[in-house]
Amino acid sequence: MTITFIGAGSWGTALSTIPAAKGHRINVFDIDEPHLRRMEEAMENVDYLPGVKLDGDYNFYTNNEEALKDADVVVFSLPAQIFRIALKSALPFIPEKAIVMNIAKGIEQKTLKRMSEVAEEVFDMDRYVVLSGPSHAEEVGIGMPTTVSVACRNSDNANFIQELFGCDYFRIYTNDDIVGLELGGSLKNVLAVGSGIIHGLGYGDNTRAAMMTRGIAEMTRLGTALGAKAETFAGLSGIGDLIVTCTSQHSRNFRCGDLIGQGMDPEEARKEIGMVVEGMFTAEAAVELAHRSNVEMPISEAIYKAITGHIDVKEAMIQLMGRPYKKEIVG
Ligand SMILES: NC(=O)c1ccc[n+]([C@@H]2O[C@H](COP(=O)([O-])OP(=O)(O)OC[C@H]3O[C@@H](n4cnc5c(N)ncnc54)[C@H](O)[C@@H]3O)[C@@H](O)[C@H]2O)c1
Repeated sequence: MTITFIGAGSWGTALSTIPAAKGHRINVFDIDEPHLRRMEEAMENVDYLPGVKLDGDYNFYTNNEEALKDADVVVFSLPAQIFRIALKSALPFIPEKAIVMNIAKGIEQKTLKRMSEVAEEVFDMDRYVVLSGPSHAEEVGIGMPTTVSVACRNSDNANFIQELFGCDYFRIYTNDDIVGLELGGSLKNVLAVGSGIIHGLGYGDNTRAAMMTRGIAEMTRLGTALGAKAETFAGLSGIGDLIVTCTSQHSRNFRCGDLIGQGMDPEEARKEIGMVVEGMFTAEAAVELAHRSNVEMPISEAIYKAITGHIDVKEAMIQLMGRPYKKEIVG
């Protein structure tokens, strides 16, 4: 089979090593030609995933048409805010029967659409698969045991992806909650920035546990208001992904929050990380969606205000802790 990756970032590269090891042809497309050439020359993604050698039938393209020729599966492996434009450019060349899989985690700014809602405008949803779950590219790239979920309107296609990308260290579960998978993977990035802020401020495990637990409650509240199943947030793409991003130095959302917590200007912190920090974009969308749906998300809102400079991080913490006492309700 031919599997085309649109975007040669860290996550797509890590994932590509699995079908490559099974002998499938891997086409990699990126708009950044120097980056792609460095990758081709070293047979390693030196810019975004150093240390992981690319063994197998790898082919590199800066031309969509060539990259997508005879593709059986097309994986969109780029930041969420770029998905619409990348899909538009690729669409005329995506073969009629190809399955499209999206691995981005985010919500489109301004339209507030999930990635599948963006795709639905132009693509057949029976052939559109979402993959989400606790998965650092750095760990998958070196074969550390990892579990994720996939969802598709057509369960045969979810099963197909499960077989194609599953291996002895990468276990894939199927799930029928596309909305939940997408929202879980996106909203947790906002809380990961918050977790980093807490770390940067010098607070401890209690504070982080509080934020994660009350954070998953507000993710579940918004998710169910938008049509997701509550139980999805107790699964891999909910609490699973929240744990991994809120507790790990691999997470660029966490690292960005850490710098902000230490006092760095949010924009400077984002630049310092150098790669896409999805949580910084998703925060605004999450708050806007919460307002529209009349759902309370005080933690995400505080993080949003802190990263947009509307409130000092310490003051945000004081306000969160000073909210009126309540009964504990999950979700
Ligand atoms: N990195 C991880 O561990 C990880 C894990 C799970 C999910 N994700 C999600 O995957 C998505 C991608 O993240 P990443 O870390 O792989 O990104 P990245 O920042 O490492 O790389 C993005 C790549 O996309 C390329 N690109 C930009 N615009 C393009 C276009 N129009 N056409 C083709 N290529 C283009 C860039 O040149 C770059 O090579 C994000 O939504 C992220 O949240 C990442």
